[in-house]
Amino acid sequence: MLTIGFIVGSLAPDSINRKLSRVLVNHAPERVQMNEIDITELPLYDRHMDDDFPQVMSHFKDEVAAVDGLLLITPEHNQAYPAAVKNALDILTRGASSQLKGLPMGIVGASPSRFGTINSQGQLHQFLPRLGVRLMGTPVFALQVGEGTFPEDGVADESTSKRALRYMEAFATFVAVER
Ligand SMILES: Cc1cc2nc3c(=O)[nH]c(=O)nc-3n(C[C@H](O)[C@H](O)[C@H](O)COP(=O)(O)O)c2cc1C
Repeated sequence: MLTIGFIVGSLAPDSINRKLSRVLVNHAPERVQMNEIDITELPLYDRHMDDDFPQVMSHFKDEVAAVDGLLLITPEHNQAYPAAVKNALDILTRGASSQLKGLPMGIVGASPSRFGTINSQGQLHQFLPRLGVRLMGTPVFALQVGEGTFPEDGVADESTSKRALRYMEAFATFVAVER
């Protein structure tokens, strides 16, 4: 059994990226256990916290250390990845060790724009490998969300479901090889 953690990069309760995460969980192969790793309670990090590392941040790092791979499902804010995602990634690099080193990762995202979240994803692809992340390059999954994309909780239209299935199969294989 592979354990894949997933982070939703939006803090909004009605997040479309959270909706996408439920569809991805429902399309994960049977050999995969999907665990959400919550970032909504993380404080805004800066280096003065290194001397007295908050427990909520240590717990978050432990959760990431325990998974075989990590899937980030994130929106795009002003042509970039959200501040909450940067904060979470920064926290993973601090403390006694970085959980990003050698971590197999995938990035997907949803937005109403026809480009999906391609800028947000492109930026993450630029720097994460330099932090030691083993980042899956293809397939790309940048989803444009419209009215009919998520007809019910955990359910997507046919084209999105097919992409979710293909993505999760590819990511599970990637994690099994890279972990
Ligand atoms: C501050 C802010 C900036 C945004 N900038 C972009 C953007 O650059 N590109 C884009 O596709 N969508 C942008 N959006 C729209 C988001 O894609 C949209 O709000 C989406 O629902 C966010 O995902 P979420 O529902 O998972 O939070 C922006 C939204 C916010 C709040």
